[in-house]
Amino acid sequence: MTVARIALVPGDGIGSEVVAQGRKVLDAVLPGIEATEYDLGAARYHRTGEVLPESVLQELAGYDGILLGAVGDPSVPPGVLERGLLLKLRFAFQQYVNLRPSRLWPGTSGPLGSVKPGEIDFVVVREGTEGLYAGAGGTMHTNTPAEVATEESLNTRHGVERVIRDAFARAGKRERRKVTMVHKTNVLTHAGGLWARTFAEVAREFPDIATDYQHVDAAAMFLVTQPQRYDVIVTDNLFGDILTDIAAAVTGGIGLAASGCINPERDFPSMFEPVHGSAPDIAGQGVADPVAAVLSVALLLDHLGHPEQARRVEHAVAVELSSRTPGQALRTDEVGDRLAAHASAA
Ligand code: NAD
Ligand code: IPM
Ligand code: MN
Repeated sequence: MTVARIALVPGDGIGSEVVAQGRKVLDAVLPGIEATEYDLGAARYHRTGEVLPESVLQELAGYDGILLGAVGDPSVPPGVLERGLLLKLRFAFQQYVNLRPSRLWPGTSGPLGSVKPGEIDFVVVREGTEGLYAGAGGTMHTNTPAEVATEESLNTRHGVERVIRDAFARAGKRERRKVTMVHKTNVLTHAGGLWARTFAEVAREFPDIATDYQHVDAAAMFLVTQPQRYDVIVTDNLFGDILTDIAAAVTGGIGLAASGCINPERDFPSMFEPVHGSAPDIAGQGVADPVAAVLSVALLLDHLGHPEQARRVEHAVAVELSSRTPGQALRTDEVGDRLAAHASAA
């Protein structure tokens, strides 16, 4: 019996290496998942000139979820695949909650070695469809000394309110019940004003949730020096992108950081992907850490309504990370096999 239909988009570089491990673990914990692989990314672009044909977009809209590896390749001009494939999917499927959990796993060490597993556990709710990513702006007098380029940040009341509301709702289900908004309201007064007013208004509807505000530069510092202070962080698209790479670095590295691009209304499929990219520097060597992709599978399982299986996947990751020794060489497929075995046994 088919329990869910998902689309796999391995993409570029290490994307295919880590998605293969995600699939192993998924099959181990939830037999009956029907997974269909889509060939999108640099290879297809070079072969056919296509990035994301409309017909494929329509087909993807019919799945229960999408597991994506990574997109982007040095042989393709920057932005072609990132905007044309990844951002197009996030925007078309209204995945406005870009959920990026950070946890210090057993076996990993925290910032400056002083923080212990369990002490860092926060989630960044990154706005996923607006901000500087919207693509507004342009260029004039290109390739002349008078060249001008602008990138405008698009912030709508609707878009800001819905993501802030989601952050409060999430905080309500967590132990510490705290939301920190991160922005740069002291400089970006137009967008910052909208975010600050909306945050204050939504906060009034959630009187039992504690609130805090930090400018993004300060947040970048505190994420490194005191990551324990955070519970739920809500922020705009670009700040969230940058802060979640920092968050990954302080919780064991980019190879462990998972994400969900979520459409809470379920009008469209949500998409699950590692925070990392295609890592051209290690692609094809079989040494990429698949844990981020596997933890993204746990987020997918939660989204599909299989929390017990999601916890088994997380347990498998905890066992795997606890058994690692610093400097140990890592083989992507071997880690995938071990994770699948641990998850089956759990
Ligand atoms: P990256 O995340 O691909 O790599 C940064 C560094 O982290 C590299 O040294 C890489 O080897 C390492 N790394 C990343 N994932 C790893 C893993 N699983 N295991 C071990 N090491 C890992 O970022 P980048 O180099 O800035 O970008 C490379 C390409 O990926 C670009 O084309 C970029 O646009 C794209 N990108 C895509 C996504 C995505 O698809 N979601 C995310 C980020 C970057
Ligand atoms: C990420 C990536 C993407 C982003 C790029 C590749 C479009 O960096 O998922 O974090 O900036 O959102
Ligand atoms: Mn990023």
